[in-house]
Amino acid sequence: MTASATLALSTKDLKKRYGSQVALDGLNLEVPTGIVYGFLGPNGAGKTTTMRLLTGLIRPDQGAIYLMGESFTGANRQLLYNVGALIESPSFYPHLSARDNLRVIGASGKAVTRSRVEEMLELVGLRDRARDKVANYSLGMRQRLGIAVALLNDPALLLLDEPANGLDPAGIVGLRDTLKNLAASGKTVFISSHILPEVQQMADIIGIVAAGRLVSQGPLDELLATQAIVRVKVTPAESAKALELLSALAGDGHVSITDAGGAWLTVRTAAERSTEVNRVLAQAGIFAAGLEAGSDLESLFLQLTQPTAPEQPAGPYAGWYAGAAR
Ligand SMILES: Nc1ncnc2c1ncn2[C@@H]1O[C@H](COP(=O)(O)OP(=O)(O)OP(=O)(O)O)[C@@H](O)[C@H]1O
Ligand SMILES: [Mg+2]
Repeated sequence: MTASATLALSTKDLKKRYGSQVALDGLNLEVPTGIVYGFLGPNGAGKTTTMRLLTGLIRPDQGAIYLMGESFTGANRQLLYNVGALIESPSFYPHLSARDNLRVIGASGKAVTRSRVEEMLELVGLRDRARDKVANYSLGMRQRLGIAVALLNDPALLLLDEPANGLDPAGIVGLRDTLKNLAASGKTVFISSHILPEVQQMADIIGIVAAGRLVSQGPLDELLATQAIVRVKVTPAESAKALELLSALAGDGHVSITDAGGAWLTVRTAAERSTEVNRVLAQAGIFAAGLEAGSDLESLFLQLTQPTAPEQPAGPYAGWYAGAAR
């Protein structure tokens, strides 16, 4: 199995259903060692189900899981000694302090020193509150403690299900730095989220899951390159003419007005062509009030995860169509 030797985690045709509800419908993941992998998908896509399967909390109906190149069957739970996980709302001993929770939890796996406990409390910013009962912790403080628990054993593979839930901005920045540093030191981080920008800021590789299947997987910069756009702002009066000119430049269907009020036009083309976009407009006497080049991963995400989306309803709930409902 040389191919999987460089993979920290992989799954093959993983299937799981709850009664008649299909949660995973043949999931094939490939997570290389030493990177941050962003597992991205809308509500109900199967992210938590995947995390629970990977940690042996539930059994798959079909398919295989490989952790650090070895087949994880549920019988060989010792493989999990090298895995740290945070899944949904972590449970703690509520009557114990954060410090004692870490000590008790640390005593149940690979040996954890007292200094490691202190180091984790410091890392997640709970040192000042380490003596308080966890029962009195806020949501974000519990989440921080959950991250500390996941890291406690210094695992080779870290599985984090929506770890940024409930974290304040400083907590999110801290989490991002920590995860990037871990990957830089050779650890593998597999992190799920339904929030694209959150993942985009830290992942090296992104896998997009929808309705229990992986619909896209690849290095973030490659995904970004396929979604390159140039955005240009013109006055509303000039937008029709600009649209016509840029359509000729970009090919049919590759120009859109994203904000009718402000008349921002989006041209699906590489950043290098932004001067060309500007010139075509200027030659017709249209001078852009704004021009920016970037990537529109957001629309790729929406497109990939909501293939069956109906017409968006009008009114206050517009935009809330159920990507999860199947
Ligand atoms: N215990 C359960 N019993 C029945 N159905 C379940 C159960 N857990 C999950 N499901 C269903 O499986 C599908 C996948 O759920 P899962 O929790 O894995 O999604 P998710 O990607 O984690 O979503 P979210 O972003 O909301 O956390 C959903 O349709 C969900 O309703
Ligand atoms: Mg979930």
